[in-house]
Amino acid sequence: MPTFHGDDLHRIASRVLQGAGVSPEDASIIAEELKEANLVGHDSHGVIRLMQYVECIDNGTFRPDGVVECISEGPSYAVFDANFNFGQVAVTKALDHGLALARTAGTATIMVRNCNHVGRLGSYSHRAALDGIASVMSVNSPGAGGVAPFGGIERRLGTNPISMAAPTPRGPLVLDMTTSTSAEGKLRVAFQKGETVPEGWIIDAEGNPTTEPAKFYADPPGSLLPLGGALGFKGSGMSMMIDVFAGILSGSGVCRDDVPRGANGVWMYFVDIEKLLPSDSYNEMLDRYYSHIKNCKKMPGYSEILMPGEIEQRRRQQRIEQGVDVADETWRQISELAQRLNVDLDH
Ligand SMILES: NC(=O)c1ccc[n+]([C@@H]2O[C@H](COP(=O)([O-])OP(=O)(O)OC[C@H]3O[C@@H](n4cnc5c(N)ncnc54)[C@H](O)[C@@H]3O)[C@@H](O)[C@H]2O)c1
Repeated sequence: MPTFHGDDLHRIASRVLQGAGVSPEDASIIAEELKEANLVGHDSHGVIRLMQYVECIDNGTFRPDGVVECISEGPSYAVFDANFNFGQVAVTKALDHGLALARTAGTATIMVRNCNHVGRLGSYSHRAALDGIASVMSVNSPGAGGVAPFGGIERRLGTNPISMAAPTPRGPLVLDMTTSTSAEGKLRVAFQKGETVPEGWIIDAEGNPTTEPAKFYADPPGSLLPLGGALGFKGSGMSMMIDVFAGILSGSGVCRDDVPRGANGVWMYFVDIEKLLPSDSYNEMLDRYYSHIKNCKKMPGYSEILMPGEIEQRRRQQRIEQGVDVADETWRQISELAQRLNVDLDH
């Protein structure tokens, strides 16, 4: 399995994307998100996505020349239309706008319609937190998605993730989670490695539990289950409300069969903490809260309690030092793609 430094992953992703027609500036934004996903350990959202992204450019789902435009704005809100450009490009622009609005208005609501895959949602909320802004954001995918609603056996929902982040003196707290048992990309990674997935994640087309990702990708396809197991109505309900907030309130829509894999909707809400309370008081409360959680007595088999986002930052440090292993099959596909696009990955 080849191992790469973050800089190498950025260069590889940026070159492939430029070879597929993305501008150097946008390719760099997307490559940064892919690289960071690999570094924090979410390989499902890293360079493995390059094949899918280029295929989507080729079939017209992703439009790298789509202009990301602000179509409506008030003192504390804005609506962007991404015109089917990359989600990373659209959300990066919308995020900057939201942070600026929140700094003047105290809070800001930003909607993005008609964008494509945004990658790891927690990357954007983490960035807001580094800027001193707390945030809640979510993204929906319209159309069939990959997730069955609680009690169903057909795909009706997306994996519809939600992220909440807050700055702290020890670094941002970042919750970033799907409302399904897993991100679809984790199935893709397991499928490419020929591995099974944990019990309770997926069902086959007839609704039987299975651990084989091939059954999810079969024809007819299987489905991911909503988060919560026997209490899956909670994940299912949350996913439906994300369809309402990120999909319908953004104007992106749901159940669109004209763009079965594109047109994600994004909802972002920002809070400038300093407008609400003095930062000393905020930091002091968070510090006490951190100890309150960390000092909890542990269950057998648990040596510590992790805060949201802590595991990603630990993996990031480790992968910066040791590099990122890219699965042989993923690297074979990237090399083949680069060759087809006539792209030199080395120099
Ligand atoms: N763009 C999209 O359409 C899309 C769709 C689905 C998922 N995603 C992304 O996929 C990624 C993976 O999502 P996921 O739900 O599979 O993530 P996950 O299950 O690995 O982690 C979810 C959350 O739990 C925390 N966590 C993980 N292990 C923990 C532990 N042992 N103790 C305490 N906290 C822990 C993590 O910090 C994270 O905040 C996310 O970045 C998400 O944004 C994106």
